[in-house]
Amino acid sequence: SVVEPLRSLILAAADSDVARRMATTAPGIRQIVARFVPGETVDDALRAVKALAADGRCATLDYLGEYTRDPTLVERTVRTYLRLLDELSTRGLSDQAEVSVKLSALTVDGDRELAARNLGLICEAAEQCGTTVTVDMEDHTTTDATLGVVERARRTWPWVGAVVQSYLHRTESDVASLAHKGSRVRLCKGAYAEPADVAYTDTHEVDLSYVRCANLLLEGGAYPMFATHDPRLVRLLRQRTRWYGMRRGSYEYQMLYGVRPDEQRRLAAEGETVRVYVPFGEQWYGYLMRRLAERPANLALFLRALAIR
Ligand code: FDA
Repeated sequence: SVVEPLRSLILAAADSDVARRMATTAPGIRQIVARFVPGETVDDALRAVKALAADGRCATLDYLGEYTRDPTLVERTVRTYLRLLDELSTRGLSDQAEVSVKLSALTVDGDRELAARNLGLICEAAEQCGTTVTVDMEDHTTTDATLGVVERARRTWPWVGAVVQSYLHRTESDVASLAHKGSRVRLCKGAYAEPADVAYTDTHEVDLSYVRCANLLLEGGAYPMFATHDPRLVRLLRQRTRWYGMRRGSYEYQMLYGVRPDEQRRLAAEGETVRVYVPFGEQWYGYLMRRLAERPANLALFLRALAIR
């Protein structure tokens, strides 16, 4: 099929400076960005939280940025999270929203100590605010380091959320050690271009792995956060959660801002906990490219927007 090469091409463009410059200066792109990213400022993010809360959806807020090379950008990222958490608390929104962070946005040159220190600052603020932090998972070269930093943070803040990707061969064994009581674990398929020696390349294999991991989380009594828009998986998860006798509030569904919003509302209306991942900020390029790679149909929109000059 043409889908796989296309997906690789889009993910390659995600790393290309030329493609980035073209996209960020094309006027038609704004509209497409707006579908997936509600805005650039903390206020934009808070407005999105309120709009989601109006029909019973929660949020996890992500200040966009990754693989940072500039220490001042890292400081700005940490400051933005601290301000965001302050605002959530003063506006009484801490029951509605938590935050998601990428360790590569909290450090430079892969300095793990700096990442852990900055994550600690954000966790302290989240605790004061009465909410939680989930550490996003990035490409497979960072998995060990990220899980290590999460494990250390959990010694002080046991509610720190981990993320696992069902496309990686290693994930079932990672899940086995994360699947214990009180452990918040987001299970997703995975969004990066990964080599065949570490990841399943067949989408069916990725789905089967997702189901095996979901079972482990449910059996182990963890707090699973099922991050998927896949209708087949959502149907299956709803059966499994019932079969395991899971009470509402002991697991949740997560979807991305702008993706299947009707399904998000439907699940929330049925009493499920639904949390929407809300990215905000100026550095939307890498995030947008991963969303386009997931659904090459979105690419046509993107190319048309690039052509409008
Ligand atoms: P799949 O890609 O098979 O899509 C199933 C269906 O959903 C599609 O047929 C389509 O209808 C719809 N859909 C999916 N993506 C769409 C899109 N972009 N636009 C329009 N429709 C779309 N990844 C990662 O590597 N690290 C992380 O930390 C996270 N964090 C995360 C948090 C949350 C809350 C979510 C929902 C997802 C992530 N992801 C992630 C991304 C995840 O790994 C994965 O890439 C996407 O969720 C797409 O996979 P699905 O499970 O939705 O299935």
